[in-house]
Parts: sequence; C-alpha cells; structure tokens
Amino acid sequence: MTVRTVGVLGCGLMGSGIAQVSAVAGCAVIVRDLNEGLLAKGRGAIATSLAKFVEKGKLTPAARDAALEKMRFTTSLEELARCDLVIEAVTEDLELKNSLWVTLDRTCPPATLFASNTSSLPIIAQARVTERADRFLGLHFFNPVPLMPLVEVVRSVATSQDTLRTATAFVNGLGKEPIVAKDSAGFIVNLLLIPYLLDAVRAVEHGVASVPDIDAGMKLGCGHPMGPLTLLDLVGLDTSLKVGEVLYEEFREARYAPPPLLRRMVMAGWYGKKTGKGFYDYSVEPPAVTPL
Ligand code: CAA
Repeated sequence: MTVRTVGVLGCGLMGSGIAQVSAVAGCAVIVRDLNEGLLAKGRGAIATSLAKFVEKGKLTPAARDAALEKMRFTTSLEELARCDLVIEAVTEDLELKNSLWVTLDRTCPPATLFASNTSSLPIIAQARVTERADRFLGLHFFNPVPLMPLVEVVRSVATSQDTLRTATAFVNGLGKEPIVAKDSAGFIVNLLLIPYLLDAVRAVEHGVASVPDIDAGMKLGCGHPMGPLTLLDLVGLDTSLKVGEVLYEEFREARYAPPPLLRRMVMAGWYGKKTGKGFYDYSVEPPAVTPL
C-alpha cells in the first residue's frame, strides 16, 4: 500500500509539523483538532514555517502554495475516514488517545494504518483497543519536525511486517530517515536523551554552574546544536517530565527519576518555549535567564 492521504490528530507543536512535512511531500492531509481556535493556531505555525523555507530558497512559492492547498482543517473525526494513514499527536494521555482510536477504528476502513507519535506511552497499550493491532505502530517525529531528519518507526509485539514496510516507505517519502525500534520505553532517542537532560537539571539544582554556562558547556565543548537547558525549553518541560516518569516507572533506575526542580517548574506552568518561560524567559529578546 502507498500512503496518499494522511490524517493528523492534533495540530499543536508536533501535529502541525507532521501535517506540514506530509503536505510538502505531496500527500493530501486532513488535520483534526478540537476547535477552530486550535486549528487556526496550527495553520499559522505551518504558514510561518513554510515562509521560512521560501525565504531561504529551500521551497519555491509555488511548492508552498501547493502544500497549503493539500491541507484541510476540520473538527470532525469522521472526515478522517478516507485516510490511508492516521497519525495521532494529541496530549500524552492514554485515555484520550484510546477514546479517539476506538472511534476511528469504527470510522476508518480496515486497511487504514494507525500510528502514534507518542514519546512515552507503549504502542501496544493503544493498539489493543482497536481491531487492527497488526496495522498499528509508532511514528515518532522530532522537534522541530520540519527541520529534524529522523523518525523512529516503532514496532509493537503485534505490528505486522507489511505495516512496517508501508510506514518506512512513507517516512522515506517525507525525505526523512527512518530507524526501527522496539516498543520499549523511550525507544532509542529518549532512552539516551532524557537522562542527559535530567542530569543537566540536577546540575542546576546542585549549583554546579549557571544555566547559560551549562548550555555553553555542551554546545561549545561537545558540538551540540543547543545546550541541554535550551533543548528542554524547546522539547517542553512537561513532556520531558512525563517521559522521565515513564522511563523511571519502567526501569526503576535513579538516572531516569525526574529531579524536584523540574517538577516545580512544571507545577508553575513553565513548560518552556511554548508557554513563554522555562529555564529562559522568552517574553524578551534575546531570552533572559529565569531566576530559580
Ligand atoms: N520551520 C522552518 N524553519 C525553522 C523552524 C521551523 N519550525 N525552526 C527554526 N527554523 C529556522 C530558523 O528560522 C533559522 O533560520 P536562519 O538560519 O535563516 O536564521 C534556522 O532554522 C536555524 O535555526 P536557529 O538559528 O534558530 O537555530 P539553530 O541553528 O540552532 O537550528 C535547530 C535550530 C535545527 C532546532 C538546532 O538547534 C537543533 O538541531 N537543535 C536540537 C534539536 C533537537 O535535539 N531536537 C530533538 C528533541 S527530542 C524530541 O523532539 C523527541 C521527544 O520525544 C522529546
């Protein structure tokens, strides 16, 4: 099967990016979110990102217009019925995801593949509520989706080889690099990345150095494109906390346990760039260091 029509559930940070790259690759895309306000926000993020590509000469204005025309925005789940592949990118809440899958399992034809962009929940815990566990997998994109070349293709114990083949071909068609991982907490990247990010928070807690110096250390000393605390702000402190909790729950190893400072910042509603404040305050330009 070739994926020609993609449904995207949720048009936040990840969903809007997934919709964008799918449309640029020539797929018809149906984006579904809860209300017109959320859809307008997602559409705005896509337009801004596409404009940056045009500005840099990486996309022609005609290709941008074609991509925009390929996308439809809706609040109706029923409109996803004609998709070859549905990718969910809603909040990391298993009950919410599963209620959507139960409805879509009735709405979509049996051939439609279902994929979750979850970075923390087991794929099989979603697949099991559908009648198509063999046609269910993880497609884990990275933030910012339009720029990051990797997609983790996650196979649960029930995912079929055919599903993996179709999904891998889809990822290649997006111009991205697929890597296949088992349905194990953190898959490949977060298993390695999250303990590193949590250690950076612990370094702040222990007063090892200032936030900018910890960032500069890894950026200039190890050649990372951004320091760990800037990266936490980009990924989302709430998301990182959630992934840390899942890893700790699964492996019970101290290095995965989220440090208290991260919890306090999430309690404060400081989720990073998306809320305007995390380890840095984005209400000023350039961003200022948040006093902690
Ligand atoms: N769309 C289009 N263009 C964008 C963009 C977007 N969404 N976001 C940034 N850009 C553009 C910028 O406008 C900028 O353009 P100019 O060069 O013309 O100024 C260009 O990309 C480079 O951006 P910046 O100058 O702001 O910053 P940069 O050079 O550091 O590159 C980056 C940005 C690609 C994000 C780079 O910093 C990077 O690779 N950072 C690491 C990101 C990372 O590790 N992501 C994975 C997180 S883990 C995850 O997502 C999984 C999970 O489950 C938690």
